[in-house]
Amino acid sequence: MEAGDWWRPHAQVDGVVIVHVDLAADSANEEAAWSWLHDAERLRWQRFLHEGAQRQYLLCRAALRSLLCDALDCRNGDLALDSAEHGKPYATVDGRAVSFGFNVSHSGCHGLIALSHDRRVGVDVEELTAQRNLDLLIEGTFGPNEQTELAALDGSRKLRLFFRLWTIKEALSKAHGWGLSLDVSRFEVPKNLRDGETTGRFQFCDLGEPGDTVWHVSNLSTDSFAAAVAHEGNRA
Ligand SMILES: CC(C)(COP(=O)(O)OP(=O)(O)OC[C@H]1O[C@@H](n2cnc3c(N)ncnc32)[C@H](O)[C@@H]1OP(=O)(O)O)[C@@H](O)C(=O)NCCC(=O)NCCS
Repeated sequence: MEAGDWWRPHAQVDGVVIVHVDLAADSANEEAAWSWLHDAERLRWQRFLHEGAQRQYLLCRAALRSLLCDALDCRNGDLALDSAEHGKPYATVDGRAVSFGFNVSHSGCHGLIALSHDRRVGVDVEELTAQRNLDLLIEGTFGPNEQTELAALDGSRKLRLFFRLWTIKEALSKAHGWGLSLDVSRFEVPKNLRDGETTGRFQFCDLGEPGDTVWHVSNLSTDSFAAAVAHEGNRA
């Protein structure tokens, strides 16, 4: 996959390609991105109240459109992005849904797009910024073992673990497509990932997911941001 003006390949995991999108203010990039958006997306752009959120949406959506047009070998005019029940976007070409898996996340100056030819995927990125209500967030987001492990740390080590666990949970929830409808405190990040390994496996069986889908999760964090990607594994 080739780099674009404001995006470039970031990682590859089991055939899932992860692209980094540079969301820094740049009028030339933003002008180029605008030309990719369809009318409904331009209306959505106008409704954002904050310039930063507008820019994140614009630069990520345009990069996504360009990447999908390449992957699906279609024209931008024929590509539509609709949303499933809980808001997860999916692509249609000439009105027909395609099974290509993709997901988007943005935070501050960083966007990530995960792409897979044949798997459902979820991605999450978070800039490492201090959180005013960290302990309240921990209480509402994490399970008992996770809370104990976080309580044993302080300062930047606590913040890093917080974001590492948060992005893994969010990537899993987004891969499934649950979004806000899932109470993420009901499941814990696999122990080996909590202990610092970079890849792990997860099943939602206790949360009522039918079948026995195994989800593969990878930590993609760098010094600048925390991030994780989750993708559907082989069905057992
Ligand atoms: C909307 C949600 C999917 C992600 O929100 P977010 O983390 O604020 O935002 P991100 O930048 O990571 O992701 C936004 C993108 O996810 C995609 N998305 C929206 N709904 C989705 C869903 N149900 N499933 C997967 N992806 C979804 C969209 O592409 C969206 O980007 P776009 O609007 O520019 O197209 C939702 O899960 C959420 O708000 N979660 C926060 C809930 C929480 O408290 N989590 C605790 C930490 S684990």
